[in-house]
Amino acid sequence: MIAAVPLGRALLWHWESNPVLRGRLLAREQGCFNCHLPDGGKEIPNPGSRWGSVPKFQAGNWRMYAEDCREVREFIRYGAPRAWLDDPKVRDRLKKQRLRMPAYGKTLSDEEIEDLTAFACAKEGVFDGLEGLAAQGLQIARKQGCTSCHGLAGAGGRPNPDSIAGFIPGFAGKNFQDLVTSRAEFEEWVRTGSLKRLESNPVAAFFWERQRLSMPAYGPAVLTPEDLDKLWAWITWMRQDKKR
Ligand code: HEC
Ligand code: HEC
Repeated sequence: MIAAVPLGRALLWHWESNPVLRGRLLAREQGCFNCHLPDGGKEIPNPGSRWGSVPKFQAGNWRMYAEDCREVREFIRYGAPRAWLDDPKVRDRLKKQRLRMPAYGKTLSDEEIEDLTAFACAKEGVFDGLEGLAAQGLQIARKQGCTSCHGLAGAGGRPNPDSIAGFIPGFAGKNFQDLVTSRAEFEEWVRTGSLKRLESNPVAAFFWERQRLSMPAYGPAVLTPEDLDKLWAWITWMRQDKKR
C-alpha cells in the first residue's frame, strides 16, 4: 500500500486542480509576490506612480487600480488596463515611475493569464457576480477560518502532512465530488468533522488517525442551519463558476 502512496497523491493533486490554485502556484513562479507581497510586509515604494507604492494584493485597495476582474486581467496581460494605456498622460507617468507591472501576455498563454486573473481576483476578494446567500457564505467561510485551511476561495491544496493526499482538499476541484456527494454529506462533515461513508474505508481511516490537521466539528452554536445554507450556496456558486 505504501508504494502506491506517491502515485495516489499525484493523482489526487491532479484532480484538485482549479484556476485559483493553479494561479497561486504560477504567481509564485512568475515572481508576482516579489513586488506585491514583499517579505518586509509593507508595500514597496514606487516613486512616480499613481499612489507612490506597489499595491499589496490583500490590502483591499485594488479599486484604486481596477474596476473589476476584466481590468485585473488587463493589468496582468498588458501591465496596465487599456484605459490607462490609451491615455498619453498615463503612458508618460508609467514610463517615469520606478517600478512597472510587467506585461505577462507576452510570455504566458491565455489559460495561464486566466488562472492568474482568477487567483488575483480571489486574493482581493473580487468575484464578479457573487451576491445574495452565496456572498454571505463566503463571509462566513472567512470569519470561521474555513478558507485558511481549505484555501483561498476554497481552492484547496494547502499542506497536511501524513494525510491521504498530503494536502487539505478544497471545494473547487474534482476531489470534492468524491468527498461530498450531497448537501447532507456536507452537513455531516461540518457538524461532525468526519463522514461515516469514508470512516469504514480502511485506507481513509489509516490516514485520518495520522494526519496533522483534522476537520473540526462545528456545532449549531457556531454555525446555525441558515449559516450552513449560506456556506452551501457559496460552494455551489463557486463550483458552477469553475469551468476548467
Ligand atoms: C516589478 C514589480 C511587479 C511584478 C513582478 C508584478 N507586478 Fe503587478 N503591479 C505592479 C505595479 C507597480 C502595479 C500598480 C500599477 C502601477 O502603478 O503601474 C501593479 C498592479 C497590479 C494589479 C492591479 C492592482 C491590484 O492590486 O489589483 C494586478 C492585478 C497585478 N499587478 C497582478 C500581478 C500579477 C498576477 C503578477 C505576476 C504574474 C504581477 N502583478 C507582477 C508591479 C509588479
Ligand atoms: C484546521 C483546518 C480546517 C478548518 C479550519 C476547516 N477544515 Fe474542513 N477539513 C479539514 C480537513 C483536514 C479535512 C479532511 C480531509 C480529508 O481527510 O480527506 C476537511 C474536510 C472538509 C470537507 C470535506 C472534504 C472537502 O471536500 O474539503 C468539507 C466540506 C469541509 N471540510 C468544510 C469545512 C468548512 C465549511 C469549514 C469552516 C466552517 C471548515 N471545513 C474548516 C480541515 C479544516
